[in-house]
Amino acid sequence: MEFNQTKTFKNLAASFASECQAGMRYQMIAQASLQQGYQTLSDEIKKIAKNETVHAKRFFDLLILHNGNMKNVPVNAGYPFESGTIDEMLEFASQSERNESQLIYPEFAETAFEEGFNDVGEAFKMTAEVEARHKEKFDYLYEGFKNGTLFKSEQPKKFVCSKCGYEATAQEAFTICPLCKASQGFVNLELL
Ligand SMILES: [Fe+2]
Ligand SMILES: [Fe+2]
Repeated sequence: MEFNQTKTFKNLAASFASECQAGMRYQMIAQASLQQGYQTLSDEIKKIAKNETVHAKRFFDLLILHNGNMKNVPVNAGYPFESGTIDEMLEFASQSERNESQLIYPEFAETAFEEGFNDVGEAFKMTAEVEARHKEKFDYLYEGFKNGTLFKSEQPKKFVCSKCGYEATAQEAFTICPLCKASQGFVNLELL
């Protein structure tokens, strides 16, 4: 069977589109966070956005590898168009990461292995693992943002200013950095 007649071909094309869109949606959350003064939140979301664009490139490269250049590939799939407040967008992001990591990519991986494209199957499998981590990160950010606990800790912990490196151990980060006067939105977020 020609590669462009396989399910894996369609899945790769749809996944490329999906990763491009995820990268863009996360850039929009990062931008909104920045506008509201959450510099380090914005930075963390940008890192995830960048991961998505690398996933897109990987899927793009696999399509070219297996099929060569193509003009006008129709991509028929459903994509989320959801916006809102920062916490709503973080929640939407978590949901789409859950769908990708638990449903879509595991299924695409299985199909690719069945159709004999092990390199694609491995790529989908590894991407699913990354998206599962993204989901955890978005959950952490969502909970922290919604509950106002991003810069708080039940046990005293070290909060570090991302601008000047000032450190203070407390249950809550300084609202204004005593050294460089940066706002709390510049305090580092520690995402494991
Ligand atoms: Fe991704
Ligand atoms: Fe992701």
